[in-house]
Amino acid sequence: MEYLVIFMLAALYVNIPGVWCQGVTTSTNCPGTSQSPGRITSPNYPSNYLNGQSCYWLLTANAGAVHLSFEHFYTEQCCDKVRVYDGGSSSSSQIDEYSGTSIPSNLTSSSNQMYITFTSDGSVVYTGFVIKYTRSVVRLQSGSDSSYGRLEVFHNNQWGTVCDDLWSMTNSHVVCRQLGF
Ligand SMILES: *[C@@H]1O[C@H](CO)[C@@H](O)[C@H](O)[C@H]1NC(C)=O
Repeated sequence: MEYLVIFMLAALYVNIPGVWCQGVTTSTNCPGTSQSPGRITSPNYPSNYLNGQSCYWLLTANAGAVHLSFEHFYTEQCCDKVRVYDGGSSSSSQIDEYSGTSIPSNLTSSSNQMYITFTSDGSVVYTGFVIKYTRSVVRLQSGSDSSYGRLEVFHNNQWGTVCDDLWSMTNSHVVCRQLGF
């Protein structure tokens, strides 16, 4: 069933006119770390980053949400950290912080902005990271009563649950049936 839902979601993407190919803009205080297409890297990548670094990246989708996937990750386990915030600044809620060599899972923001920081301490440097970002028009909001969370789609400038009255598309009915609504 999960595969069927994913398939139907792909159909939903395709059916939303005009918004799929629009972008995400990025601003940063660390020059040379924003690469096209749609990737940010640690400073000097693929060479090692330096000690004492403090970088931020603000990613803004023109609509919908920001989706991150980590393609490379290698920092000093204790001390050189990437932090990801669900919003436009470091005072937004922090999704998590990462260091070491495990590749973090994909992340999707709940608004149209994601804020990322990288700090390194005074010793030990590695290659750092590559994070791919894309705009997403689908997000899964965690819900206490469902193991799948609440599936939401961005349409007509707002987030709606796939199964509420906003959604009259044939595909959404199929998705809702698959999800048991
Ligand atoms: C993470 O996102 C990338 C693309 O951005 C995708 O190719 C990959 O399948 C995703 N991984 C998972 C586990 O969903």
